[in-house]
Amino acid sequence: MIDLHYNEIAKKYDSLVEQDITKQSFPYAGYKMIQELLTDDLSSKKKKVKILDIGCGTAKLYEHLLPSKFSLVGIDQCPKMLEIAEKRYPNNKFIQHDILQGLPEFLKKNTFDYIVINYVFMHFSFKTTLDLIHLLINYLSKFGKIIIGDLLFMNPPIKQEFFYNHQDYADLDLHFHLYSQFVNKMNDQLALSFFEINDYTGMMIIENINEFTLLFEDPLVKYKSNTAKWKSTHPQRNRE
Ligand SMILES: C[S@@+](CC[C@H](N)C(=O)[O-])C[C@H]1O[C@@H](n2cnc3c(N)ncnc32)[C@H](O)[C@@H]1O
Repeated sequence: MIDLHYNEIAKKYDSLVEQDITKQSFPYAGYKMIQELLTDDLSSKKKKVKILDIGCGTAKLYEHLLPSKFSLVGIDQCPKMLEIAEKRYPNNKFIQHDILQGLPEFLKKNTFDYIVINYVFMHFSFKTTLDLIHLLINYLSKFGKIIIGDLLFMNPPIKQEFFYNHQDYADLDLHFHLYSQFVNKMNDQLALSFFEINDYTGMMIIENINEFTLLFEDPLVKYKSNTAKWKSTHPQRNRE
């Protein structure tokens, strides 16, 4: 069902996202800010970074990043979205695959500096999302980060307030996840951070607790000081 939907809208997808950004409408109003946070962070790296993108779609997310800064493996179940991604980045690898079946076998021995999942978990239940995150951790390089942008609230009161003001959104066939729920269920060896992007969008960053790299001088955190709210499960990072 989901793949049929994205096959139908594939050619329009990028402009639908742009429209939502311009009109600040649902669901992609926060897309640009997620894109900027990620672009700033990736651009600051000295070495070329290896990215695995789950549900990469048209790979629009990387449009402002120099192709020399990254190598991308994009996975998506929708062939028409992937066609656009392949045209955009012909030197990168795109694989048609349903992520609910796990990761493709040939990736088993690979690790990545970034694993990005943007506006995909809104299609998955909490349990499926949690299982997938725990699977993806095995594919992170030593100082790697999992970056999730999605319909995501910091905690239940914020979610309740949103649905109080927007009751019609409760009927949508989408999952609005809770950062606090992930914090409670995630393995202790993982450090989680959250950026509030707008009143229904958040960005969650997951790293191995002993190998965290997201320090205060990090562009992601600097950017946040002027914009999004910030919360982290790592004690040193909640000083602000
Ligand atoms: C809203 S789009 C986001 C695309 C891209 N991540 C972005 O930020 O522009 C969701 C994408 O997730 C893909 N997707 C949904 N369920 C999937 C699954 N089970 N396996 C692989 N891809 C999936 C869809 O085909 C679609 O391209």
